[in-house]
Amino acid sequence: MLVLGIETSCDETAAAIVKDGREVLSNIVYSQIEIHNQFGGVVPEIASRKHVEKISYVVDMALKEADIDIDKIDAVAATYGPGLVGSLLVGLSFAKALSYARKIPFIAINHIEGHIYANFITYPKLKPPLIVLVVSGGHTNLIILEDFDRYEVVGKTRDDAAGEAFDKIARYLGLGYPGGPAIDKVARHGDEEKYKYPLADVGGYNFSFSGLKSAVINHVHTLNQRRENFKVEDVAASFQKAVVDTLVEKTIKLSLESNIKRVAIAGGVAANSKLREELSKRCSEHQIEFYVPDFKYCTDNAAMIASAGYFKLIKGQTSSYTTNAVPYISLVSKKE
Ligand code: KG4
Ligand code: ZN
Repeated sequence: MLVLGIETSCDETAAAIVKDGREVLSNIVYSQIEIHNQFGGVVPEIASRKHVEKISYVVDMALKEADIDIDKIDAVAATYGPGLVGSLLVGLSFAKALSYARKIPFIAINHIEGHIYANFITYPKLKPPLIVLVVSGGHTNLIILEDFDRYEVVGKTRDDAAGEAFDKIARYLGLGYPGGPAIDKVARHGDEEKYKYPLADVGGYNFSFSGLKSAVINHVHTLNQRRENFKVEDVAASFQKAVVDTLVEKTIKLSLESNIKRVAIAGGVAANSKLREELSKRCSEHQIEFYVPDFKYCTDNAAMIASAGYFKLIKGQTSSYTTNAVPYISLVSKKE
């Protein structure tokens, strides 16, 4: 079965064609990063206008690269939220219109759920049950994926998401947007033991990144006021260590306590080299299988949306044309 996926929740216009939920035939991402970079973050109005300009072209490219005629597409899946409402509406409306015109099913996908499916693309044989750490610019969730489309949300953030913390600290340190890759890069040249920042831990399986963020900002502010010399690389590495240590600790704890010895990560922050390295190390110490998506499927893309769409389609879970864009959705446990 061939599913066309469409993703426009933030600043990437993306379309992909995925066969049977696992095999990516094409994966086109038009990134607007350079446009938003000059403003230090995503400007919603510009983002939605760019999506309108690019969407047809990106879908055409996805068909062309897969060498598939539009007649051969069995269903179209698109992100309906969470995200920027104007941006979401572009991809969602495009998908509904295409579905109506071609008389094929339309499937609305929750973007956070979509990120999880990056793992099923990267590992064609991987199946639930699975512990998944979902860490993106907008969300931080620790879940037990019991089956495709059935999960229990065990932990979440009380305030900022992990990626948001990376972006805010990077901006404060003058490292530009998006902040995660910038911190990841400079942290390689820093001493992560130099400063002891508080963990992003609020007990149980929950996270809080705002205390850590304030601690780093206040610390740098004080260093500047005292005119003390410091290396941005050391601050970045110490901050990254505090984030990664918290994420790794809780993920391992959940795997051991639930006795599900299979861990996967998803979302933009899953591209972080320190997180991948540490979690991989800790998993092997405990004989836990560790799954990590290819870099290109960690950050926003439409292949993960097409894959999530396929697993809904085979269960007959298609969506109605009245489905609207929903900017705020938090992940809640889903039992069929
Ligand atoms: O999943 P994503 O592309 O979009 C959302 O759904 O939010 O995630 C974007 C987030 C941004 O906050 C970005 O800074 C972060 O992922 N990110 C990283 C890395 N690459 C992207 N964070 C840490 N290290 C990275 N290498
Ligand atoms: Zn995302």
